[in-house]
Amino acid sequence: ERTPTGCPVSQRAAGFDPFEDGYQQDPPEYVRWAREQEPIFFSPKLGYWVLTRYEDIKAVFRDNITFSPSIALEKITPTGEEANAVLASYGFALNRTLVNEDEPAHMPRRRALMDPFTPEALKHHEPMVRELAREYVDRFIDDGRADLVDQMLWEIPLTVALHFLGVPEEDMDTLRKYSIAHTVNTWGRPRPEEQVAVAHAVGNFWQYAGKVLDKMRQDPDAPGWMQYGIRKQMQHPEVVTDSYLHSMMMAGIVAAHETTANATANAVKLLLQHPQVWRELCEDPGLIPNAVEECLRHNGSVAAWRRMVTKDTQVGGVDLPAGSRLLIVTSSANHDEGHFSDADLFDIRRDNASDHLTFGYGSHQCMGKNLARMEMQIFLEEFTRRLPHMRLSEQRFTYVPNTSFRGPEHLWAEWDPATNPERANP
Ligand code: HEM
Repeated sequence: ERTPTGCPVSQRAAGFDPFEDGYQQDPPEYVRWAREQEPIFFSPKLGYWVLTRYEDIKAVFRDNITFSPSIALEKITPTGEEANAVLASYGFALNRTLVNEDEPAHMPRRRALMDPFTPEALKHHEPMVRELAREYVDRFIDDGRADLVDQMLWEIPLTVALHFLGVPEEDMDTLRKYSIAHTVNTWGRPRPEEQVAVAHAVGNFWQYAGKVLDKMRQDPDAPGWMQYGIRKQMQHPEVVTDSYLHSMMMAGIVAAHETTANATANAVKLLLQHPQVWRELCEDPGLIPNAVEECLRHNGSVAAWRRMVTKDTQVGGVDLPAGSRLLIVTSSANHDEGHFSDADLFDIRRDNASDHLTFGYGSHQCMGKNLARMEMQIFLEEFTRRLPHMRLSEQRFTYVPNTSFRGPEHLWAEWDPATNPERANP
């Protein structure tokens, strides 16, 4: 087999398959061979060039003109005619939002919509996150065991996302049901018979998002990032378009929800797999902010992102012709010895932990990063204070096969409720 530029494909490159369990379990380990020996390779199975080193990936993020983000939300597994017909029957037209918008449209829109993400604006959401975290822990703290994903970490970031966006309470449950389908539709490999069911769910999600948006337009002064966008549209209709608003109403839920839920589950899993580190964190919660960064570096929730090459170029000495699709494995960059010393070591005091690329980098870097950080810090504050004696249960971790969004489907932890700190110090 040959690459599109005529070079032979190595055996390991030919075998690369991000839908395999090996990639899901530990993406940086799965591509260690590449990071060390063949940092940029062409994957015939995927039809993408795969990038694995920190400097190469950062260079790609830095230049969003040569490396367009337009394919970031494109289906990585093209669907068949039947599924496409189903999507069309719902009028499905998910289009550019921010994450996949090119210049010159992107920057003015990003600037127009940035204010709700300032630290002062985010402060308003903190009490809600804290209250939710306490309430959910209350429900299981006396049980001595819990699936932290099912019983807490999946739901709270979704609730926070819906509040942040400004979704009316009465519509939250319906949107909750639909949101997961989008991940499989975009980054997964559904089998042909699954594709049709996924298409119906995505179609329903799209239509419902449209209805919720219409409702928001009736009350544009209500709090919420979407209402903020609706008000901006009145001043700058060419910057904040109808297509943007409808697409973001759907994509924004996933952007804010699954990323954060998975990131927290990955973090708690990693911490409990290192009992000594967990103990240190419980003894000194002042370490939590840097521990969050180190968790995002070592075991982040976005494993890889995408770009498309717009003109013939080179990265790391490899020719990449215009039209090449790139899978940039940020989770591998985060384990690159060239940037992080002793990169596989989990070190919550690491001084450059926040150089990780889990939030991307440059002009598209995650706008919600501080909201995500705040949620993760609060969850860890509550866990270290109320459940310092928790440990991981025996279990095998499973993941939804896809290239980009990654977190365990379940996370069982256990503890002895008789020694709950709040029983000793009520
Ligand atoms: C963009 C990851 C949470 C909103 C992105 C990108 C990544 C990412 C990889 C693309 C960056 C690039 O192309 O350079 C994450 C992770 C999260 C998280 C790992 C949680 C741990 C959130 C939250 C929100 C959010 C809570 C809240 C609404 C956005 C938006 C963009 C974005 C609006 C597009 C920015 C642009 O293109 O200008 N995120 N995200 N994200 N994220 Fe997040």
